Amino acid sequence: DYCLKGVRHLSDAGITRLPGRYVLPACDRPGRSVGAPARARVKLPVVDLSRLRVPSERDGVLRTLYTACRDYGFFHLVNHGVGAESVAAMLGVGARFFELPFPERARYMSPDVRAPVRYGTSFNQANDAVLCWRDFLKLSCAPPLGNVVPSWPDSPADLRDVAAAYADASRRVFVEVVGAAMEAMGIEGAEDGVMEELTSAGSQMMTVNCYPACPQPELTLGMPPHSDYGFLTLVLQDEVEGLQVMHDGEWLTVDPVPGSFVVNVGDHFEIYSNGRYKSVLHRVCVNSTRPRISVASFHSVGAQRVVGPAPELIDEKRGGEPRRYMDTDFTTFLAYLASAEGKHKNFLQSRRLD
Ligand code: SIN
Ligand code: FE2
Repeated sequence: DYCLKGVRHLSDAGITRLPGRYVLPACDRPGRSVGAPARARVKLPVVDLSRLRVPSERDGVLRTLYTACRDYGFFHLVNHGVGAESVAAMLGVGARFFELPFPERARYMSPDVRAPVRYGTSFNQANDAVLCWRDFLKLSCAPPLGNVVPSWPDSPADLRDVAAAYADASRRVFVEVVGAAMEAMGIEGAEDGVMEELTSAGSQMMTVNCYPACPQPELTLGMPPHSDYGFLTLVLQDEVEGLQVMHDGEWLTVDPVPGSFVVNVGDHFEIYSNGRYKSVLHRVCVNSTRPRISVASFHSVGAQRVVGPAPELIDEKRGGEPRRYMDTDFTTFLAYLASAEGKHKNFLQSRRLD
């Protein structure tokens, strides 16, 4: 099937019309496309990590973080300490990977969703009725990183070094931000050991996304509406816009803020926060002129661990609130994705108790 060679391959072949496999039903098309009216843009809240480290400013930053996670589920993270060179090198090596000849990239294709390295196309190829205009490289970053790096691509020659340094830096940022987001809800030194696990082990996965220029961007998407599975995702996007978030019933385009991370709350964090923080639907639009690269780093607890609302929040003796979500784990999630319901409903909604 020619489409399974991916969209970079189609775009390199110079197609001028979108193949039928990528054409969404009219109701699912992006409608108002990227670059459209200013009112469709969103200025996400900005969290300044360097100010979080200043004792007199910490409370103010925690409040911004709390309301961002509650009202948007998304924020820009600035002054995060990951150097501009590291960020540029990661986007650069990601872009060069997709410029490799197709057979070189194809060495990393795998049907196994748990493979430590996986090259592929679309969103969830086994389930997608309509394919998405995206190719991706997924790298497992499960600690210790030294164990997985040797399975990553050895071409481009600098990929392992650059991606390992970037993964490590983004993990440190995650640990600081998730700790602050816990503190902002009044949870410090979580009783159930979740924070220890997130800090010292947990899971990390990185995806480099490639969205080539698309001949008919109004008919398709780079990623369909979805929420992320874990605690927090750190997204690095280049200067080309495309990411949209659902806010007050509207799709809003996130403006790229050079050098910032776009951070979003995932399903696990919504469950853990008992619904204070929101794991929000987002999608990616493509455009006809400018290829786009993004790098997402997904962070959560280990696959074996069961996640439920934080005991501190639902402890009724201490004035806690009703439990709003069932416990969940990775096996439940995979089973859900494979089920008939998983094809049209959101996983998180299936875990809600009310
Ligand atoms: C995502 O990972 O959901 C979006 C990444 C992007 O902005 O391309
Ligand atoms: Fe996502």
